[in-house]
Amino acid sequence: MDRLTGRTQMEKERDINILVTGGAGVIGSSLVKKLSGQITVTDNLSSSSSDPIADLIASNKVKFVRGDVRNLRLMKELTKDIDLVVHLAANGDVRYSPEKGTKLDTMVNTVGTFNVLEAMRVNDVKKIIFSSSSSVYGRASQIPTPETYGPLIPESLYASSKIGAEALILSFSKMFSFKAYIFRFANIVSSNFRKVGRNVIPDFVMKLKDNPKTLEVLGNGHQKKSYLYVDDCINGMLYASAKSRRDIDIFNLANIDSIEVKEIAKIVIEEMGLVNTRIKYTGGEAGWLGDVPISILDIKKVTELGWTPKLNSMEAVRKSARGIIRSISIRRS
Ligand SMILES: NC(=O)c1ccc[n+]([C@@H]2O[C@H](COP(=O)([O-])OP(=O)(O)OC[C@H]3O[C@@H](n4cnc5c(N)ncnc54)[C@H](O)[C@@H]3O)[C@@H](O)[C@H]2O)c1
Repeated sequence: MDRLTGRTQMEKERDINILVTGGAGVIGSSLVKKLSGQITVTDNLSSSSSDPIADLIASNKVKFVRGDVRNLRLMKELTKDIDLVVHLAANGDVRYSPEKGTKLDTMVNTVGTFNVLEAMRVNDVKKIIFSSSSSVYGRASQIPTPETYGPLIPESLYASSKIGAEALILSFSKMFSFKAYIFRFANIVSSNFRKVGRNVIPDFVMKLKDNPKTLEVLGNGHQKKSYLYVDDCINGMLYASAKSRRDIDIFNLANIDSIEVKEIAKIVIEEMGLVNTRIKYTGGEAGWLGDVPISILDIKKVTELGWTPKLNSMEAVRKSARGIIRSISIRRS
């Protein structure tokens, strides 16, 4: 209870106006279900659909605006009377492909972030939460990698676009007194998956649906990374941004442990109830151009605030695999 206004914490939270960019995506759609306040979601639906939040839109709990973060004028309209921006919109597919080209990451992830920040400045919005990525560390020589690690030498255009976005957030925050909480996510896994640029688990599930006899795994199978379940990711973001004692802060958000890609392949095969599936490795240390074969983050900073993930990497992968397999069989039947 606030002694001056007599309002409870819940009443105060209900009054907050929040803009979530990329709110129809895998992480965004789970996040908006957990937020209280007046929520506007904007998303261009390039890698998602509004289905996961359709109920919230229909019941007027969420206002949905189909739009693009590359549109500065729209961002200025959407940030009017907003108290907090959770900026998740991005081209989330780390891989380079000739069809995707070399421009998309920078235009959406960096210039899009500039537009969000400029719109916030114009409309005097004072707080941003941002989804960065462990990819900013490149092939770090310090494992587990802490937030203070540098220099940041990106291996992909996606990673450099996130470094650019982080730099813009930090300078806007310093110059115009925004509060800014940047989260460098590990691999976030979920029972939902994006339409474009599938992550490892849905990729394996779909490949095995097509051909249960052989699973092609990119790289030598020894790529070792930390996986975090989407609910843990969201709780971590909300928890650390509320508990941080700084106005500008950067956190790694990951699991303490890590697993190899070949173990993920085995889990997916097992969960699909397949036997005698041959795993074929394409070879090489990295799975694709720009892949970082070992990504293990130091999460002391966020755990010292009191947050811990509920599921470890193995459990997170298994739960996601089960959910994806179930949703695909339901959709097909
Ligand atoms: N999932 C992960 O493992 C992971 C890891 C590190 C960082 N991240 C970051 O977290 C955020 C959310 O990722 P996600 O896994 O939910 O991915 P996602 O692709 O499901 O979500 C991103 C959303 O942004 C939307 N979007 C793309 N371009 C847009 C544009 N120009 N304008 C407006 N909307 C646009 C997409 O349609 C999608 O709904 C992204 O910023 C991503 O880079 C994700």
